[in-house]
Amino acid sequence: MLQLLEGEKELILACVDEVLKNNSKNREDLIPVLQKVQAKLGYLPALAMGKIAEGLQVPAADVYGLATFYNQFRLNPPGKHQVKVCLGTACYMVGGDITLESFERRMEIKEGETSPDRLYNLERVACVGCCSMAPVVVVDDVVEGKVTPTRVDGIMLALNEEVKKDEKEQKAERKEGEA
Ligand code: FES
Repeated sequence: MLQLLEGEKELILACVDEVLKNNSKNREDLIPVLQKVQAKLGYLPALAMGKIAEGLQVPAADVYGLATFYNQFRLNPPGKHQVKVCLGTACYMVGGDITLESFERRMEIKEGETSPDRLYNLERVACVGCCSMAPVVVVDDVVEGKVTPTRVDGIMLALNEEVKKDEKEQKAERKEGEA
């Protein structure tokens, strides 16, 4: 499980409190409550699910079961960069699974997870409608076609460069702010 960032615990607790305050405490409200908390936090942390279970007086296992049952809920925080690997039939037939494994190895996470530094998250998706370009990967909403493991290296290199550039810019901004 990913570590919470500094101040994130307080943020989660405040968010759940606010959502519960504005909802009836019925068990039937579980899905809308989960939806609202996810809309605010971008995902459903375990801490939030525990608090929701307490607030609605339902077993924590039921909350977790529901959150894992529906695709609309995500249990990991979104990464700064999102990589979606298509495993629809056309992509799978030409090595979509190998592309996915290549990303898993390079990111050191499994499909469905977010890297501990929250820079990347990796997902598998069904057909994205570009079968002629199979195997297809969607990187931050940009569609990449004919993705071989070598291309995976190129994509990761470009993403890492972008991360470094962002960090440099943020550092410069902080320095400017301090001056
Ligand atoms: S199966 Fe991958 S784009 Fe259609």
